[in-house]
Amino acid sequence: MSDKIRRILNHESPDIILNLAAYTNVEKAEEQREIAFAVNGDALTQICSEISVYNSKQNKNLPLIHFSTDYVFDGGGVEPIRPCARMNPLNVYGQSKAEGEKNILSSPISYLIFRTSWVVSKYRNNFVKTILRKIENDSEINVVGDQYGAPTTAEFIADFLGQLIEDNSLQTRKGVYHICGKGETTWFELANFVFENFKKLKGIPKEKSFRINRISTDEMQSVIKRPRNSRLCCDSLKNTFSIEQIHWKTQVEGIIKDLLQ
Ligand SMILES: NC(=O)c1ccc[n+]([C@@H]2O[C@H](COP(=O)([O-])OP(=O)(O)OC[C@H]3O[C@@H](n4cnc5c(N)ncnc54)[C@H](OP(=O)(O)O)[C@@H]3O)[C@@H](O)[C@H]2O)c1
Repeated sequence: MSDKIRRILNHESPDIILNLAAYTNVEKAEEQREIAFAVNGDALTQICSEISVYNSKQNKNLPLIHFSTDYVFDGGGVEPIRPCARMNPLNVYGQSKAEGEKNILSSPISYLIFRTSWVVSKYRNNFVKTILRKIENDSEINVVGDQYGAPTTAEFIADFLGQLIEDNSLQTRKGVYHICGKGETTWFELANFVFENFKKLKGIPKEKSFRINRISTDEMQSVIKRPRNSRLCCDSLKNTFSIEQIHWKTQVEGIIKDLLQ
């Protein structure tokens, strides 16, 4: 791992390091604790250490941009969670991501940690694409209606990163920020929003019926604990980076259109 990072640093001479790699399977992480901690925790110590050595040798201040998650919190309360709130993860995935954050914070390099939530996109597998597939193939689904948060599109994050990278002051930046869609919803409401947009754009044949049942977290009978409150407060992001936070509905509508048209 360290060798690979060193090779990239020495041969590519990057201006920034962006880490979006992570062990993200929340269910499997419970059984593969060691791997989750290696990828989401220890790897950050190695990345930061290599950047630090490189910076000293080259007299540079190469910054790390890293992504983290709402799962570092326990989801208590109903208010949007501020970046400075105490981390208290409920599951192994969250614990390993929290460990990664701590490892970055204890290193001497410049860093920006962005915690995001409920990422959806027209690419790869995600909740919106699952619901679209279910509408086409199934007659009903159960969706949790008592976990609150804001969907965020990968496209929105990518646009933000593009702007950020053009910003020459990146080298001097340090801090932990929250970035997510504006507003709030539940997975159940999001599923309904996807269905409404599907009907608007494609219509539903008369013989086809599709029903979304609202269930509670307890009814899911999952052994994995998930935060009920994933609302992230983005005030410091808006103040620091003068970013316009786009409503989750606008973001999600955009990817549904791209996927269905
Ligand atoms: N998705 C969400 O809802 C969400 C919410 C909050 C925060 N985040 C954070 O956002 C970031 C990106 O998440 P995502 O949803 O894009 O996850 P993802 O789809 O699972 O992508 C993770 C990426 O990491 C790579 N990766 C995993 N283990 C690796 C290893 N040992 N070495 C090198 N690469 C490795 C994977 O490569 P392969 O494709 O080859 O497996 C994949 O490309 C993560 O930090 C995650 O914690 C995501």
